[in-house]
Amino acid sequence: MNKKYRKTIIAGNWKMNLLPSDVKPYTDELRQLAGKVRHCEVVVCTPFVMLPQAVKAFRDSRISVGAQNVSDKDSGAFTGEVSASQLRDLGVKYVIVGHSERRAYYGETDEIVCAKVKAVLNAGLYPIICVGETSAQREQGVTDEVVSMQVKLALSGVPAEKVRHIVIAYEPIWAIGTGKTATPEDAADVCTKIRAIIRALYGARTARAVTIQYGGSMNPKNAYDLLAMHDIDGGLIGGASLKPADFAAIIDAANQ
Ligand code: 13P
Repeated sequence: MNKKYRKTIIAGNWKMNLLPSDVKPYTDELRQLAGKVRHCEVVVCTPFVMLPQAVKAFRDSRISVGAQNVSDKDSGAFTGEVSASQLRDLGVKYVIVGHSERRAYYGETDEIVCAKVKAVLNAGLYPIICVGETSAQREQGVTDEVVSMQVKLALSGVPAEKVRHIVIAYEPIWAIGTGKTATPEDAADVCTKIRAIIRALYGARTARAVTIQYGGSMNPKNAYDLLAMHDIDGGLIGGASLKPADFAAIIDAANQ
């Protein structure tokens, strides 16, 4: 694995699962199991209501906390929204932006995704920007065009010095929650192309510093082969992050 220039990041996305009362048992177990996190950074992205507890529980550990969404606005009369500066003040470090579930069910356009990326970066936090094609788009052979457009639009107007702080998660929609994983070769092929886009936009030094994750039915069995690929610098894990033992096994695969 070429991890010389960039961090390997293993991030769990709980989505809308678990309860506030589950946080303590989960964090206790994960802290114990993942006590020897060495070569990667670990992030746990909980629902908003569990973030304060998670931040407290992972304090003084090598595990960071992330949110799953954020407002594109800085502050003001936006009922029900949560701003990036509120997350930062809480001790949150990462924010998932543009997950395919938000794009599909909550009308998040590429323009909104871009505004959220900027809000996160301006607050000094790290966005995990999700991109990926549908199964129909893959069958039509337009994966590269779709992903390229999503990456370019998410980054439009983002200055070079901020791009090093972003993480991109390639999550083919057909692989999310389906048990169908992209082959390591197919996943790495798209991740390599994403890096090429960043290189074309921002130059080689910036491109090699950006962490590009794979997400979509990653589990303890397939993680090692996926993470061994040159351009796959980590994972964004849904279902398998809900059990500390499974998540810790994936962290172990990244530590090899
Ligand atoms: P699964 O790991 O459950 O397929 O979810 C992937 C994902 O969407 C992470 O953001």
